Amino acid sequence: MSQQATEQAHGHYIGGEWTTGDESTFESENPATGETLATFQRGTEADVDAALEAAESAFEEWRDLSYIDRAEYLWDIYHELRDRHEELGEIVSKECGKEISEGKADVTEAWHMVEWAAGNARHPHGDVVPSEVAGKDSYMRRKPRGVVGCITPWNFPVAIPFWHMAIALVEGNTVVWKPAEQTPWCGQIVAEMFEDAGIPDGVFNMVQGFGDAGAAITDDERVDTVLFTGSAEVGHEIADKVGGEPGKLAACEMGGKNGIVITEHADMDTAIHAAIMSSFKTTGQRCVSSERLIVHEDVYDEFKARFVDIAEDVSVGDPLAEDTFMGPAIEADHVEKIRSYNDLAREEGATVLVDRFELADSEIPDGHEGGAATAADGERSGSYANGHWVGPFVYEIDYEPDLRCLNEECFGPHVALLEYSGDVERAVEIHNATPYGLAGAIISEDYRQLNYFRDHAEVGLAYANLPCIGAEVQLPFGGIKKSGNGYPSAREAIEAVTERTAWTMNNAEEIEMAQGLSADIKTSED
Ligand code: UN1
Repeated sequence: MSQQATEQAHGHYIGGEWTTGDESTFESENPATGETLATFQRGTEADVDAALEAAESAFEEWRDLSYIDRAEYLWDIYHELRDRHEELGEIVSKECGKEISEGKADVTEAWHMVEWAAGNARHPHGDVVPSEVAGKDSYMRRKPRGVVGCITPWNFPVAIPFWHMAIALVEGNTVVWKPAEQTPWCGQIVAEMFEDAGIPDGVFNMVQGFGDAGAAITDDERVDTVLFTGSAEVGHEIADKVGGEPGKLAACEMGGKNGIVITEHADMDTAIHAAIMSSFKTTGQRCVSSERLIVHEDVYDEFKARFVDIAEDVSVGDPLAEDTFMGPAIEADHVEKIRSYNDLAREEGATVLVDRFELADSEIPDGHEGGAATAADGERSGSYANGHWVGPFVYEIDYEPDLRCLNEECFGPHVALLEYSGDVERAVEIHNATPYGLAGAIISEDYRQLNYFRDHAEVGLAYANLPCIGAEVQLPFGGIKKSGNGYPSAREAIEAVTERTAWTMNNAEEIEMAQGLSADIKTSED
């Protein structure tokens, strides 16, 4: 499928064939315009069943290939991702609404992950472990778990699938993947890349669809590992269910209520830059986006004035235009969710500093009339009238640890300014007082404050004098607490898709045991 949207409904990729299932379909929509991009088959339990059967029967042959031979298929995909960078970046922007530099970065992040996983095929995969007994050699070896079910989100529709699948496949597993229902076009193109690479039938399978198809994957006993990236709600459900099934593993990476601490020793230019990027890039729809800015009283007024000034001005608009900073929200329901969190903050006592939820027509650049419009909004006109437009919402609030608006993830351009007094210990206490623990940052020129944050912030990804977004693939990505166990991504995914074998071999002719254990066999004759 190329750059052009088509009328024909695209199918699932199962056992090396494009299949159509039971003919019920759904559409992919451009969130900036409401226009239909393409139509896709909606996967059912029967489609998932066929995909799992294909994955299961392909496993033995696939695992018998060398790591390096398996990685060859991924290298083909690496080159295709690079060759089609511009085209795919635009498709990402069209389908999920991220502005174009982010659309392209999504594709770049995908080939970085493929490069890492395929390159890792030539790196050592275990350890040689010394034994107490000179005649013994011990090794830690890895073997694939089997069939890996991958459920991925819409906000990184090309990169995150490769976080899961590049590693699962190089390690010798076969895969059944359900892309997010908001970004099936990206899913289709990724599946075409596996077909182009000539990956053996059944090794990679893709079923388009919604949560019911996802549940059919995660619930099936043929699945050995579930890799999930997405909402806490769904992730916890999967983790609960799979946790009760012996031998099955779920690795889930979920959202955050991420915070940035700005101390009295912060460089203000860095603080403002990092905070604006973290709160509004991707329209606040990264799981690492920041919704809490924890600012020392000595610099609070200056920070507030400068942050508010820029939040009033950041450009919201056509994701394909180079001068856009924020594209639309993903869908109408999500605009409603953002509205409800803005309302909640007000109800809980917020003083609103910036409210661009209802954007004026003039705020959408280049005459693309918008507003927080839905398809039903008859007053709007123009090609962008039906986009899911929403702008920054910034508030300050007297700090209380239990406020819902400071604990629940909105996943939008919705951010609280929290003033604190005292030392960095107090700031980190506020920072840690949420059920989540994904990403966080500190802005300070004092290395002791930086180190305190590094050692005490309850997060998987911690940054100093940087935004809390933008992790590179060679770092472990993931969180703690309600944010998940951090395994379904990058390097750490290896833990989730392999089993370790402690392999010990005796090179001596006699059996000698460790721990001083006697190896003598005693009988009544002795
Ligand atoms: C997500 O937030 O959903 O660290 C993934 C980042 C990106 C990945 C974000 N590399 O911002």
